[in-house]
Parts: sequence; structure tokens; C-alpha cells
Amino acid sequence: METNFRQTHAMDKAERYEAFLEQFIPLIEGETHTISVLANTCAALKEAFGFFWIGFYLVEDDKLILGPFQGSVACYSIRKGRGVCGTAWAEGRSIVVPDVDRFPGHIACSSLSRSEIVIPLLTTQDEVRGVLDIDSDQLDMFDDIDRKYLEKVAHLLVETLYK
Ligand code: SME
Repeated sequence: METNFRQTHAMDKAERYEAFLEQFIPLIEGETHTISVLANTCAALKEAFGFFWIGFYLVEDDKLILGPFQGSVACYSIRKGRGVCGTAWAEGRSIVVPDVDRFPGHIACSSLSRSEIVIPLLTTQDEVRGVLDIDSDQLDMFDDIDRKYLEKVAHLLVETLYK
């Protein structure tokens, strides 16, 4: 398997996500081990977009538990309804936070995080199996383009892992 997720910055964001998906779909196709697939997803997104922190929190009983990630150490567990991740889980929807200091209850794993996007891994039965969490060290880094394509990534992961 040979992949190269590094990208040229001449492309706009949507083009970069399209190019990412072209390689990401075959990367995870037919793979069923959750930790392996999520770990490679973090590596691929990190390589393609250079995100400050990217990782997964997975639902276990009444908590989200830290899963595969790339970046500095992070909190081990998050309760439902807490922080951005716990809120995305409780509400079953993606959340874009342009300024983490303005999100009541935001959990600061790193004081350098400035903006954040959280996408639930939502099954066709509307069950949340985990969340994809991406942090930036700059304000207002994520928008509807990120949301649209990262929801696509989450959908592909759910189809591969939780069908
Ligand atoms: N900021 C998140 C916690 C996880 S870290 O960003 C890695 C939140 O408020 O849920």
C-alpha cells in the first residue's frame, strides 16, 4: 500500500478534501478493525491538512473515551453533554466552534486550542458511536466546507466499521 496524503496548497479547501477522499476511500475499504482504521484516518488527515490536534472519542457506556489521535496528550474521558464533544454526542450533530473561549463548558485539553470542529459518528439508526474532534491553534479555522467533508469522512467510517 502506497499513499501520499501530502497536498499542494495551490488547491482550495474543497479541492483538497476531494483529493483527500480519493485516497481515503481505498485506504479504509474492506478494513474492519476500529482502532487501526481510526488511527490511519488521523494520520491521513494530519498529513493532508496539518491539523493541530485530531482524534476520536468513542462511546463506552455513559462516557466518551479517548481513542486514536495525533497531537498532544488529551483528556481520557468526557461525559455526555459535557464540552464540545459531549454536546455533539448528546445532540447527534456536528458542532463548529470559531472561538473555544466563547463555547460554554469547552474542555481545554490544550491551552493552545483556539477553534474546534466535532463530528459525530452517526449510524443509520441515529446512534452515536463516537466523535471526530479536530482542534486548531488559530481562531475561526473551520467552516461549512470542513463540516461537509468531515461528515463525509465520518459517514465512510461508520459504513466501514459499524454496519
Ligand atoms: N475540547 C474538547 C475536548 C477534547 S480536546 O479538544 C482534545 C471538548 O470541549 O469537548
